[in-house]
Amino acid sequence: RSAGGLLEVRLEAALGKHEVAGREATTLGYNGGVPGPTLRLRPGDTLRVELVNRLDRVTNLHVHGLHVSPEGNGDNVFVAVEPGRAHRYEYRLPDNHPPGAYWYHPHHHGTVADQVFGGLYGAIIVEDDEELRVDRERVMVVSDITLDSGGSLVSPSTMEQMMGREGELVLVNGAAKPDLKGRSGERERWRIINACTARYLALRLPEQRARVVGRDVGRLPRDTALDDVVLAPGNRLDLVVDLSEGGSELTAMPVDRGGMMGQMMGGGPRPGGSGPVTLARLSVSASGNRAVGEIPAGPAVRDLRDDDVDGRRSITFQMGMGGMMGGGDSPMSFTFDGEEFDADRIDQQVGMDTVEEWTIGNDSPMDHPFHLHVWPMQLLEVDGRELSEPVWLDVVNVPARSQVKVRVAFEDFGGRTVYHCHILDHEDRGMMGTVLAS
Ligand code: C2O
Ligand code: CU
Ligand code: CU
Repeated sequence: RSAGGLLEVRLEAALGKHEVAGREATTLGYNGGVPGPTLRLRPGDTLRVELVNRLDRVTNLHVHGLHVSPEGNGDNVFVAVEPGRAHRYEYRLPDNHPPGAYWYHPHHHGTVADQVFGGLYGAIIVEDDEELRVDRERVMVVSDITLDSGGSLVSPSTMEQMMGREGELVLVNGAAKPDLKGRSGERERWRIINACTARYLALRLPEQRARVVGRDVGRLPRDTALDDVVLAPGNRLDLVVDLSEGGSELTAMPVDRGGMMGQMMGGGPRPGGSGPVTLARLSVSASGNRAVGEIPAGPAVRDLRDDDVDGRRSITFQMGMGGMMGGGDSPMSFTFDGEEFDADRIDQQVGMDTVEEWTIGNDSPMDHPFHLHVWPMQLLEVDGRELSEPVWLDVVNVPARSQVKVRVAFEDFGGRTVYHCHILDHEDRGMMGTVLAS
């Protein structure tokens, strides 16, 4: 399709029999599959989605990372689609929309973790203008889920939800350890989406040349090593893999993302405590092809400078005791600056066409991935360490007892939207705030 095109899709969310991890399971899914269909767009395109709710509870749809207007029926969080109803969304991508891998998932506050964990997610690819030349592209949606012996979804305990639930099975496009086949000398492009509810992914692909050419938003100015990047929930990776004969396994190494008050809460499951997990097996046959050359440098990347900054503010992740005393079912509260999400409150008011520098603090003993809708964030500094090159993300991990700095250009669209923790159990418990650009 040419730019300025229209993509119309119907997404039907339902609980049903789906093939998951190689067997029939009863999960959620869009259009009868896990994940849902991959949507491919170009900058300047319009995406129309008719979301049909065949669930027994409210849902809605969010297009994660897309730089589209939050106004009208565009944003997600404030739209509730009742069971048996349908809702039409329309998103117009600006002509200069950054390419990359994005994704869609439900966003109805209080149920997001259950619905995503249950199987509701899918990929959105915004194509490059000047494509990297590759022999094969793979879109790999990584998710996790827990199923009982009958193939039904298992609900996590309260403790697991407070930690952020991690499923027992880690899936790639709904499959457990799929076999990937390639030929030596070929170049592949892997778009990896971390659709896990809370699991962090430190990926490795030993014995193969794998270079990161893009993260959430657009391309990187220079490719970087796979080992240098950890995908928090919601993050994506644009990976170039130059295949050499033999085998490999795409592996997720354990990530220590902290715990609850030093495990004083009874020492529930410790994230990252388990060993490496194999996500996929790769076998590469001999082809006689010569290896491909260097990876071409990406296009110039925007760099917001100190003197572009019109205002500064700070926002801090906090976990506190006492939800239980307030009558909640949780012994912990999950907030920004002590406040749980309130859809009727405006937490951050920003001026249109201004650049802000946000210091995002974390006063808690766990890492939290900070996600802002609509406007991408340029990551400047993590735990006092400055980045040497501009990197644009829509989910930025904020390490425990630490802080990060980002810059955001509030441009192109005004309106009201949200930022939140992308450990979706935390978001559901209140770790979300609203931002109004006007
Ligand atoms: Cu991927 Cu507001 O979420
Ligand atoms: Cu989002
Ligand atoms: Cu969190």
